[in-house]
Amino acid sequence: MKIRLQVNGRAEQVEIEPREVLLDVLRDRLFLTGTKDGCREGECGACTVLVEGRPVASCLYPGGSAHGRSVETIEGIGGETLSPLQNALLETGGVQCGFCTPGIVMTLTALLRAESDPSVDRIREALSGNLCRCTGYAAIVRAARQAVGCREQGGPS
Ligand code: FES
Ligand code: FES
Repeated sequence: MKIRLQVNGRAEQVEIEPREVLLDVLRDRLFLTGTKDGCREGECGACTVLVEGRPVASCLYPGGSAHGRSVETIEGIGGETLSPLQNALLETGGVQCGFCTPGIVMTLTALLRAESDPSVDRIREALSGNLCRCTGYAAIVRAARQAVGCREQGGPS
């Protein structure tokens, strides 16, 4: 089947198998390998992308359902430079092995777009579907708060 979708603002047309999931469309058809393939069961969040601005587990999201929709992946975040959130993750030590990081960036990007000043509890709640085995989460939560601070001081969002 043929699907048409927007990926990081660019129109794409892809021929896929009917049972193919969005994760495979992105990684294997469009070669956007920043989205990670972890559990393939909706448990780890490594494959998180935004569909119409909302975080989804792309390993469970049918590729055909992406037809006509807008998808954002880690490749679309930050442009030529890193986003304030990505910089904050680096500064706080919120990136270690990095496998979880693309999914975490997508989840937190959606949160920070939707909420101007999310609390620590709210950030932790948003991250409940993203597993990180390395950092213990504290540095990731600090990074999200630091990105809020950057925005409040008039920096880029
Ligand atoms: S690979 Fe999709 S949630 Fe783990
Ligand atoms: S930094 Fe290694 S899993 Fe999160």
